[in-house]
Amino acid sequence: MFIRTKKIEVDDFNPDVSKLKEAAEKIKDDSTVVFPTETVYGLGANAMSNNAVQKIFLAKGRPSDNPLIVHISSVEGFKRYAHISDKLLYKVSEFVPGPITFVLEKRDMIPDIVTASRKSVGIRFPAHPVAQRFIELSGFPIAAPSANISGRPSPTNADDVIEDMNGKVDYIITSGNLKFGIESTVVDVTGIAPVILRPGPIPPEKIEEIFGKVIIPDFVYGQSTVDVALAPGMKYRHYSPCVPVILFEYKQKIDLLQISDNLSFYENPIFLFLEEHSSIFESIGYDKQCIGTISNLYEIGAKIFSMFRKYEKSHDAIIIEGVPDKAIGIAIMNRLRKAASKII
Ligand code: TXA
Ligand code: MG
Repeated sequence: MFIRTKKIEVDDFNPDVSKLKEAAEKIKDDSTVVFPTETVYGLGANAMSNNAVQKIFLAKGRPSDNPLIVHISSVEGFKRYAHISDKLLYKVSEFVPGPITFVLEKRDMIPDIVTASRKSVGIRFPAHPVAQRFIELSGFPIAAPSANISGRPSPTNADDVIEDMNGKVDYIITSGNLKFGIESTVVDVTGIAPVILRPGPIPPEKIEEIFGKVIIPDFVYGQSTVDVALAPGMKYRHYSPCVPVILFEYKQKIDLLQISDNLSFYENPIFLFLEEHSSIFESIGYDKQCIGTISNLYEIGAKIFSMFRKYEKSHDAIIIEGVPDKAIGIAIMNRLRKAASKII
């Protein structure tokens, strides 16, 4: 079914509330609205309406056993929609608003369709001013997965989100580039120690500063088999552009011959490399592009998905250098390993 999508553009920091109002009114009637957050674009609908949430799964082609994150616009929301002690709420408050989702014991009012019938619910209070205003204006919690077609890289700019969602949703609100460009850290705080389910912009060591010891299961690094009971969404194919991604794990000592061999396998590949290695790759006679430096991993994280979507249109393979598995590097490598068809 093709929907006539209305597009609204607003300023990142000082959004024109009158422009957001129409979409916020319509979402009350079960409309679907794409909106920006500081991580990636979200595909939102009223979390309290089964009919509205059903439309999210349809628009994305998302399997119904993969739960959605509920977005709120104040700290009180954590108490309203989840069972949370004052002590836990205090710790959670240290991180929000921000690029992190807390998995908590859900209250009955959250419909089963949102949580894929789980007893827990993922709740996120985003920091992006447009997301905050929009959720506030709508007056209820907004269920929102990333606004990509299932399996594709998450959209982080207006063109990319329009590419996937035009004709599938009622409204698309766009506003500039997004700060992190990589999805929120998902952390389950229902047990004694917090468990990272998806690495993101808030690194484990930051969570440990407030929560104490954090558990990082092996699958968080993107290599091993996922514990489906713990992290339902992680078993699915993810973040993949339309062309193969060949990932070279981060190494200080580069094997130029091995990289050239892999490039020569394709007709028109692009090689994405680290600034630290630019002198080594000068002589490579293929299209190449620097992705940034390991001393600023946030900059690399913010570009990953938009580069995938850019180069899948111009090249027949994306060969990319990895980064160290440290801090936000864990999140970048999780996405790259999941997107890769070959890891070297
Ligand atoms: O940054 C983000 O988190 C973005 C923006 C739009 O907020 N949203 C996002 O949603 O990435 P999505 O649906 O693409 O990814 C949410 C992940 C999925 O892997 C899902 O399985 C997991 O969070 N998740 C959600 N609720 C959960 C729950 N109750 N228990 C365990 N995992 C959960
Ligand atoms: Mg997603």
